[in-house]
Amino acid sequence: MRRARHIAILTGAGISAESGVPTFRDAQTGLWAKYRPEDLATPEAFRQDPKRVWEWYAWRRELVSQAAPNPGHYALAQLEGCVPRVTLITQNVDSLHQRAGSSNVIELHGNISRVICSAERRVVEQWQETGDAPPLCPDCGAPLRPDVVWFGEILPLQALEAAVQAAHSCDVFFSIGTSSLVEPAASLPLEALQHGATLAEINPLPTPLSKHARFVLRGPAGQALPELLRSVWVIGRSPEPNRQ
Ligand code: OAD
Repeated sequence: MRRARHIAILTGAGISAESGVPTFRDAQTGLWAKYRPEDLATPEAFRQDPKRVWEWYAWRRELVSQAAPNPGHYALAQLEGCVPRVTLITQNVDSLHQRAGSSNVIELHGNISRVICSAERRVVEQWQETGDAPPLCPDCGAPLRPDVVWFGEILPLQALEAAVQAAHSCDVFFSIGTSSLVEPAASLPLEALQHGATLAEINPLPTPLSKHARFVLRGPAGQALPELLRSVWVIGRSPEPNRQ
């Protein structure tokens, strides 16, 4: 890490778990233990029951807006001051990396705080509240939806291309707080490995990626990341920048 010119990081729901944002697949607490993804996170679900889908995302949007970044998010933001180039790729839609101060964030699955027109796909910032859910697009009258990627939908092309490019060009790739089960994000660490990067994983539990990683830190990201930065750069609270 001290010698790295470019560190790429892929995060998943686990990095926000210590901020009180539920993950998807953790056995007791994950959202998919309580809800069926096919009822809530697919285009078909939205067509069949737009109100249910809109209200579920409105509940999650509220939950995320009450959450604050945790020491794991802050450590990743701090990393930008330690390494010449850091690319942070996230599957999360909660903006907690940006709120912690990370500047170069690639959002693979969209952002829950944005709303788009389900027909025209453009971001809509203001609409008439009629009490109905979902509200309708002020221009074309189609239902509005959250700007997130649902199962069966393609990822934003520019974001995916930037993520692949980072995986191909980094010296060190971290996979943090993700079950490594959802494609295409799950392939990014393997792409990095094939292009010569050193692969590290931070997760309290084993994942399908663990056997490929050269380093595995088994623990919560909110503890492991600040400790890692402290030990690599022998620092107190703020790492010494090595930009030159
Ligand atoms: P998952 O819920 O599948 O996985 C969360 C991972 O975080 C698990 O491997 C946990 O062991 C780990 N974890 C839990 N607490 C942690 C902590 N404190 N520190 C570090 N790791 C921790 O979430 P994702 O992998 O992000 O997509 O899921 C990928 C995608 O599937 C999501 O973006 C979402 C979901 O369905 C869509 O909605 C399209």
